[in-house]
Amino acid sequence: MKKVITYGTYDLFHQGHYNLLKRAKELGDYLIVGVTTDHFDEARGKVNVVDSLMTRIENVRATGFADEIIVEDHVGQKIEDIQKYNVDIFTLGSDWVGTFDYLKQFCEVIYLDRTPDVSSTQIRNNSFKIINLGIVGTGRIVPRFLSEIKYVSGVNVVCTYNPYEKRKIVFDDKYTLKNYSAEFGTFLNKVDAVYIASPNETHYEYAKKALENGKHVLVEKPLCFTKKEAEELYNYAKSNDLVLMEAIKTAYCPGFQQLMNVANSGVIGDVKDIEATYTRLASSGSRERTDANYGGSFLEFGSYTLLPALKLLGRDYTNLRFKTIYDENGVDIYTKTELEFADGMGSSKNGVAVKSEGNLVISGTKGYILAPSPWWLTRRFEVRYEDPNKVEVYEPSFQGDGFRYEISEFVLKINGVEKNGYKYTAGEAIVMAEIIERYMEQKKG
Ligand code: CTP
Repeated sequence: MKKVITYGTYDLFHQGHYNLLKRAKELGDYLIVGVTTDHFDEARGKVNVVDSLMTRIENVRATGFADEIIVEDHVGQKIEDIQKYNVDIFTLGSDWVGTFDYLKQFCEVIYLDRTPDVSSTQIRNNSFKIINLGIVGTGRIVPRFLSEIKYVSGVNVVCTYNPYEKRKIVFDDKYTLKNYSAEFGTFLNKVDAVYIASPNETHYEYAKKALENGKHVLVEKPLCFTKKEAEELYNYAKSNDLVLMEAIKTAYCPGFQQLMNVANSGVIGDVKDIEATYTRLASSGSRERTDANYGGSFLEFGSYTLLPALKLLGRDYTNLRFKTIYDENGVDIYTKTELEFADGMGSSKNGVAVKSEGNLVISGTKGYILAPSPWWLTRRFEVRYEDPNKVEVYEPSFQGDGFRYEISEFVLKINGVEKNGYKYTAGEAIVMAEIIERYMEQKKG
């Protein structure tokens, strides 16, 4: 019996997939089809897959060509599968010519002609209108955002808004964008969605105006400074079918999802304590170090370090305390936040002029999780136990600097593909705003 194997994502199943599977089956007697998992696709840079794994498997099954369907979830698996299933022929479409020649030491490799003029990417682009995005603010974060948005299909940055800058702006000598200076309304008319990366104290007003004009909003943290404002914005977005997302990058990173799932899985027992630290020394002239009202360590980084506690211990904290060190100008250079819950506790440390180890430690009744810096991008974490020799290491895939995952989530939500928003819920964002409100109160006090 001649065994053939082929692999693919098979998103938005199309004629090209059908033809390929048909011809693959004709190469032998028994066809094995490997369908990629979402994580594996993310790791390969395919962040916009629409259909769920089960749908993609069902579509392959429905062709009737596959004798066996397996899932592909890691690099190197093809070699394992070929040996494990005793495969005679590995085949793939001609877009891959050469890429898999290294498999020739294990079996025959055949590239089949690709069906012209159809691909999942093309269907994804055609089935959803390209989103025109405008950026509010033209600061340091914009070139990073622009270099990452390239990896997400279905969205184009068309212009920026900065009331103090009249000219077109060239970012990093690479990206030139028309800038609207006087009229926010004109800017909004050009776009379907906005990314707000202006100074912290302006986020709420811009977000509100954009939503009221029917635009989807991705807004840098902190979204606002009171619970009431957060509720108002999320309620407005919900009742008007608009997407409002706070840009807490960590929440959307695939590794962070995995870390949360491992912590929730019981392997470390019941989670009792979470310590998260994020510090970054800012230059003395920077906004973070000079703006006593809206700069400082907690407002810059607190959302990152509070996130794990909100996700794992819930929203019903019973006690909240801040300890802040201010510099001579009243700027928060270091803040420690302590949270108590009925059944656990959390602490968060942030600094802009105090440096510390950027760890995340999640302690449970049977063991703990240690995620070293930069845990907020979550490239690695370890599960450890009483027995120091027992360590489970996780190295989730992570590409670029994290923006692509949050942008991709934003696009999926706008297109109505991702509706749950479980990665960072409106409820969590509202509690986050409530904590920020308490911080602002004690600061004034
Ligand atoms: N394929 C093909 N003809 C097409 C499209 C895909 O023969 N027009 C083949 C690919 O070469 C591969 C298999 O179908 O062997 C699964 O490809 P997949 O990557 O899932 O589909 P694409 O449409 O190429 O997806 P994307 O646009 O996301 O890369």
